[in-house]
Amino acid sequence: MTPKVSLTGIKPSGTPHIGNYFGAIKPALQLVKDYEARYFIADYHALNTIRDAETLRNYTYDLAAVWLACGLNPEKVLFYRQSDVPETFELTTILMAFTSKGLMNRAHAYKAMVQENLEKGNDPDEGVNMGLFTYPVLMAADILLFDTNVVPVGKDQKQHVEMTADIAKAVNYTYQQDLLVIPEPLISEGTQTIVGMDGRKMSKSYNNVIPLFLPSKNFRKTIMKIVTNSQSIEEPKDPENCSVFALYKLFATAEEQTAMAERYRAGGMGWGEAKQALFELMEREIAPLREKYDDLINDRAYLDNVLKEGAEKARIIATATIGRLRKATGIAR
Ligand code: TRP
Repeated sequence: MTPKVSLTGIKPSGTPHIGNYFGAIKPALQLVKDYEARYFIADYHALNTIRDAETLRNYTYDLAAVWLACGLNPEKVLFYRQSDVPETFELTTILMAFTSKGLMNRAHAYKAMVQENLEKGNDPDEGVNMGLFTYPVLMAADILLFDTNVVPVGKDQKQHVEMTADIAKAVNYTYQQDLLVIPEPLISEGTQTIVGMDGRKMSKSYNNVIPLFLPSKNFRKTIMKIVTNSQSIEEPKDPENCSVFALYKLFATAEEQTAMAERYRAGGMGWGEAKQALFELMEREIAPLREKYDDLINDRAYLDNVLKEGAEKARIIATATIGRLRKATGIAR
């Protein structure tokens, strides 16, 4: 049996942090076990919000280097950049003809912006560009172009995959052919919320993230700044209500977790010591990846080449899909 296709799209819109690493990068890389896993950098999606050329360029290289450093093997899986596959934009145009405006009106991200404008007394469409409004169509093209069966997404993106399925069904129904594979969202249930520096969910919008690849010294400094309570060294501490321990658990074996929890409860360990232990444990996993990342990020020629080779492979699949559609729609003579 041929494995099902999974497709992971990643927007180059910021520097990845520990929350992304555990919540998105690691689980996505696990997909190779059960799927024919495909990965791409959604740079045109980022263009909706990033309007500085150098920033977009840097984020794109950064993302490529991060995924390769974390173990994505471009010899084994497809890895490409959206903008290198022009068939994406042709498919977007085709899909536009099958997408009702009403469907886009219902998209959560767009609705939230309109709502915010109304609450502020602004024009409802203030700050809404057509890239944002039609974001789900471009995303549908990404997905449908590659015969995707499952799309691993967080809850926030589930609706986009459902819209993609609706659009694909409309195309298939119109031409009475299975032209497009109908995708399903794959919602990762197990993924925990990763706590940030202040005990809230780690998120760029809370300004509480621990970046994934900082130089070791700065990484340590950041970890030392995790917010704790003011208990003295002697006092026994509760591991269950502690950001340091929550992060420790992510990197520790079961035995290490038990041992550390005991040290918490026994008292005699200060926060500085607990944070140092966390730092050392994180370094065990992150340092080798950081080393790879540092090499990769300084070798843009290599990254360009990986993406170029990925695009060549991607376009073989993309061209086949577009060929089917051109024929079915009558665009091809
Ligand atoms: N919208 C996704 C996000 O913001 C990124 C994305 C773009 C994507 N195209 C995709 C994800 C296709 C999966 C499949 O995270």
